[in-house]
Amino acid sequence: MAKYVVTGGFPLRGQVQIFGAKNAGFKAMIAALLCDSPSKINNLSRVGDIETTREVITFLGGKVFFLDDHTAKVDPAGLKRYQAPMDCGAKSRAGMMFAGPLLSRFGKAVLPRPGGDKIGVRPVDRHLAGLAALGVKIAVRDGLFVLSAPKGLHGSRFRFPKNSHTGTETLIMAAVKALGRTVLENAAAEPEVDNLIAFLNRAGARIKRVRPRTIVIEGVSRMRGITHLVMADRNAAVTFACAALATRGEVLVKGADAKVLQAFLKKVREAGGATEIQEDGINFYREKPLKATGIVTAPYPGFMTDWQTLWTVLMTQAQGQSTVWETVFENRFGYAPILADMGAKITLFNPKIRDPEEVYNFDLADDSPDFWHGAKISGPTKLFGRTVTVNDVRTGAMMLLAGLISQGETTVLDTKNQISRGYVNLASDLASLGAKIKVTKEAESSVIFKTAQVKALETQN
Ligand code: UD1
Repeated sequence: MAKYVVTGGFPLRGQVQIFGAKNAGFKAMIAALLCDSPSKINNLSRVGDIETTREVITFLGGKVFFLDDHTAKVDPAGLKRYQAPMDCGAKSRAGMMFAGPLLSRFGKAVLPRPGGDKIGVRPVDRHLAGLAALGVKIAVRDGLFVLSAPKGLHGSRFRFPKNSHTGTETLIMAAVKALGRTVLENAAAEPEVDNLIAFLNRAGARIKRVRPRTIVIEGVSRMRGITHLVMADRNAAVTFACAALATRGEVLVKGADAKVLQAFLKKVREAGGATEIQEDGINFYREKPLKATGIVTAPYPGFMTDWQTLWTVLMTQAQGQSTVWETVFENRFGYAPILADMGAKITLFNPKIRDPEEVYNFDLADDSPDFWHGAKISGPTKLFGRTVTVNDVRTGAMMLLAGLISQGETTVLDTKNQISRGYVNLASDLASLGAKIKVTKEAESSVIFKTAQVKALETQN
């Protein structure tokens, strides 16, 4: 449990350094398990999800050494288990990514069914359909996926019914050592996918993005460990940019990469913000009063869904009516009543559209009449400090941002340490920029996968 207390009203000014993306770093650690020798991974952000990955790899018999705060060595030599611990699956869809390395080494894998952020039901049907196309047999037992490829993985042609970022990565990692050629159509175009491809190719894989959404993989039999650089965190960059703009400050986000932030930068300019692209980062400040904008979240190169919570807070400070339309996840406005309670004028609605199957990235079967897909925000409005509780990492960052521009004190109760899953030291980074923010943390048990659990799993399988 972490408790953040923010006193609003202080403009953020100065520079902040961002490091590697959580959503690229832990995947490189998993990819290292496909190699015969250790890999060194640079520019990691040592966030909660990286620690979880380290613990899963250790549980499986591999080794992860942190050489410093941003560098890890992953040694796959001792891998001896093919069943991942249950807690890893409870945390995110990303646990599915262990399928490839475990199946190619052991011919089987037992993985928990995923949970993750409370932003939707998080099915993995696209991952499973793709694995089945590569020759994987799938059974469900006691809440676990039991995967086996008795005749080995074989190359195949698979078309994703809709975009899946981690689904694409799961299949790339499964196909990389499969026999023959795999063609992934309608594959995700997120830059984190390309960062993973870069790792694998340098390690000896043969992967090519032949069209923006088509990836061809020629299976190889061996891969060797390499040194890899994790790409900069798009989400951290957007968090500090929104904090600078919302508080009427000026922040140079060092390490931010403009190439992969185009959709965001375009909206910042439309809203009246300045984006000075410098050699070592991007400087954000307000050029004029903020004005209302409309955003639609979408897979890359669109406006990323992870940014919409922060953008909504920013738009409470903009003149006019803004709209935010979420098309990636089916239920991502759970925070709206909290923001309304803080003083935001926000109403939820469902945009009228002809072809929801075409527009929405989630499975329509996961939708519900209780879910809203759009928000209208009228501004500018004053926000007032409250005590709020965090549900997921992006909402947590959003609540801190709301606190920075609220009158009085905002207390953010992060009962499950969601914020630290995605940010290393968000509170101290914000404080270094002039925010008045204090954080207190309760000690956590560092061993999350206990021996009893290992034994229970071994007897089950
Ligand atoms: C990844 C990112 C997450 C980001 C998201 C969209 C990681 C660890 N997480 O999540 O930060 O918000 O991409 O850019 O990289 N879906 C299915 N069945 C599937 C797979 C997905 O129905 O088998 C649905 C999801 O519920 C969601 C939509 O498809 O509504 C998109 O999911 P996906 O692109 O797979 O997101 P993640 O990879 O989980």
